[in-house]
Amino acid sequence: MSTTLNRPISGGANRIVPEEVRITGDRYTSREFMELELDYMWARVWNIGGRSAEIPEPGDFVVHPLGRDSILMVRQDDGTIRAFHNVCPHRGNRLTQAREGSVDAFVCSYHGWTFGHDGTLIKVQDEEDFPKGNPCGRLNLPQIPCEDYAGFIWYNMDEHAPSLESFLGPVKAYFDTHQLENMTRTFFRVTEVAFNWKALHDNFCESYHLPTAHPQLADYYDDDYQNTTFELFDGHHSLMKMKGCMPSVRGSDPTVVNETLAAEMQLWGLDPKAFEGRAQDVREAMQKHKRTIAEERGFEHWLRVEDSWLTDAYHFNLFPGTSITVSSIGASLQRCEPHPTDPNRSIYEHWHMTIKPLKDGMVSSPDGWVPFKQAERDEFPYGTKSVGFTADQDLAVATGQQLGFQSRGFKGAYLSGQENRIQQFHNGIDRYIAEGKAQKDR
Ligand code: FES
Ligand SMILES: [Fe+2]
Repeated sequence: MSTTLNRPISGGANRIVPEEVRITGDRYTSREFMELELDYMWARVWNIGGRSAEIPEPGDFVVHPLGRDSILMVRQDDGTIRAFHNVCPHRGNRLTQAREGSVDAFVCSYHGWTFGHDGTLIKVQDEEDFPKGNPCGRLNLPQIPCEDYAGFIWYNMDEHAPSLESFLGPVKAYFDTHQLENMTRTFFRVTEVAFNWKALHDNFCESYHLPTAHPQLADYYDDDYQNTTFELFDGHHSLMKMKGCMPSVRGSDPTVVNETLAAEMQLWGLDPKAFEGRAQDVREAMQKHKRTIAEERGFEHWLRVEDSWLTDAYHFNLFPGTSITVSSIGASLQRCEPHPTDPNRSIYEHWHMTIKPLKDGMVSSPDGWVPFKQAERDEFPYGTKSVGFTADQDLAVATGQQLGFQSRGFKGAYLSGQENRIQQFHNGIDRYIAEGKAQKDR
């Protein structure tokens, strides 16, 4: 359901969702609510388990822990990918403790049951000693729906889940255009944080915090909500298009070509001096310029995408907890996922993916320049290393917010129009929980 208001809210928002759910602190701290989310939402949505380029050869595997679940994704002998619950059907041992690897077969460390790449049980000790019959041919690894799309491995723990295509809805057309499958993950940092996963995803659902929490972004993005487009899709996903390659009109001097903007112009061969006092013109000039250098720089897709995609941030929120910002030269993925037992903690990941090196075999990342090669997973205790300058700012805010969620004085969020995607997100969670419960009762 959406409401049309007779005055513009949030720039080009295509709809306003109503407050179906009151966003109170207990949603972020309650163990009971965490269990509802795990059982009725996380177990029923399409999740990204990894990059398909991580497991190029038959027998290569990657594991994605999600809450108390653990999913094993394996490259098959025919080149496809299958996903299984990472659990031995004998007596429940976790099949592999590794995060990734390559095997001829999966051998359980408890009694040695052995499974092929396709999950088939191929060998057990003392097979004649089972009163119910030899388990080979009867038991296999529990397989779940899995798709290889846009360079990501997607899985859904619900075997009756609708297809990934129908889950993604209108988002798929955007991803098809931008060919995320041609990108290499060049930055991959992970840290456990002291806040509920929703605190950070709320942050990704609004840009209202930019002037306060990320003042540096005003050098490059027009963070005024009235100039920003918001699309709230069915399926609880959303897209924000924020104008880039120009200083914020809210800034102290939006006509000056600042250092950040000048560096970007120089990277692509535009002369900052030619735009002195006309910084607001740089965005359009850059769009035209990029079309002319698309082929020589090896970014042929620049000839196909709309003008705004050459300069702006296309920020997608995929329900429930993944945020992907696509630019003209790459994409970054951020997500926060639930901790197995504690609603006050979660696991944060920041990936950055790029199409090709920009100079000297290097690409820009959320934490400076890095080599253009597949990044190893880098997990470290929170605060011991940057997860990216802007992301560090978000994580610091969310850590403080989690304390506030526990305050008796917090009566629930009071949202602005430009924060309406937060409402969409929370409405979506409760709808999933209600539907999941109803399905269970049927
Ligand atoms: S629990 Fe895996 S072989 Fe027994
Ligand atoms: Fe932020």
